[in-house]
Amino acid sequence: DMGGHDTYMHKEISEQPDAVDRVLRGRIDDRFSTVHLGGLNLDPREARSVRRIKILGCGTSYHAGQIGAQMIEELARIPSDAEPASEFRYRNPVVDPDTLYIAVSQSGETYDVLAAVQELKRKGARVLGVVNVVGSAIARETDGGVYVHAGPEVCVVSTKCFTNTVVAFALLALHLGRIRDLSVADGKRIIAGLRKLPAQIAEMLEGEAEIEKLAAEYAGAKSMMFIGRVRGYPVAREASLKLKEISYIHAEAYPASELKHGPLALIEPALPTVAIVPDDDLLDKNRAALEEIKARSGRILAVAHQVQEKADHTIVVPKNEVELDPILMGIPLQLFAYHTAKAMGRDIDKPRNLAKSVTVE
Ligand code: F6R
Repeated sequence: DMGGHDTYMHKEISEQPDAVDRVLRGRIDDRFSTVHLGGLNLDPREARSVRRIKILGCGTSYHAGQIGAQMIEELARIPSDAEPASEFRYRNPVVDPDTLYIAVSQSGETYDVLAAVQELKRKGARVLGVVNVVGSAIARETDGGVYVHAGPEVCVVSTKCFTNTVVAFALLALHLGRIRDLSVADGKRIIAGLRKLPAQIAEMLEGEAEIEKLAAEYAGAKSMMFIGRVRGYPVAREASLKLKEISYIHAEAYPASELKHGPLALIEPALPTVAIVPDDDLLDKNRAALEEIKARSGRILAVAHQVQEKADHTIVVPKNEVELDPILMGIPLQLFAYHTAKAMGRDIDKPRNLAKSVTVE
């Protein structure tokens, strides 16, 4: 039942305020400015002894893991990174006893992720899961974890589950941070930011008509560039993946800082750029990148906290705490991908060549 929406994708995008509310519900502990994660199965002493975190997933879940790794590194100061599960599995990685491994999966059935979990367990590693489907294979094989509570996701491409997974990582980062060196004041600040998310997402969804108009303008492009730096980079990668999956427009994502090391050669009026420009300490650097693109007559769509002079269009996103910016900045670009694909007459819920859960290698 699509409840009045024309596609499951549109329905699932629209459900995000409620979905985010669900992942937060019952977990915030104001007394200690932290969160409770009942199924984590990692006691404070163990949490303190973790020296490194490695996050494994595929596709959109890998991108959510990339944002998660940045959040954990920022809030808990534990060196963290994300890697595609299958790449990890086949490069004979060093499995270190002080590393905590986290498997991310919407379905909990993705073979590449499951096989990585099994390989890690066989080698004695501690593996947690950040999973949506309760009781799925990955949920069962991991030692504990955080359920994402996005509810069923039917559209082949992931939207609400991506957002909820990133919020689940914010909770985990806050939890680990407050066991380690994150102050009470910072804990409070992040909790206040988390509580604002559902209303801010609802506010962004109200801007849909404007995004629909923008999408109609960009729907003719053969290829698009997505750029961002640090917190904005995984957002750019995810937005680029979403666009290519459902519109079949070729898109690639680059760190804005890498433009001048090569991809700038592609910039011309026929190759539009979507730029993620949060109001953080990299704002001036991002603006400089927009200037470089404009100097080559490239069209720019910015997703930012304030209107960007160098951009042809800006989608303005509400401000939250800098650490939580990536959660909000991706949402208008889900609608952008959706409306671009719709303008091109694509089969949005069932893009060609793709399946909802990839249970084979
Ligand atoms: C993208 C998409 C895929 C999945 C990937 C992992 O929109 O849906 O990239 O994210 O196949 O699936 P899960 O999260 O079920 O492990």
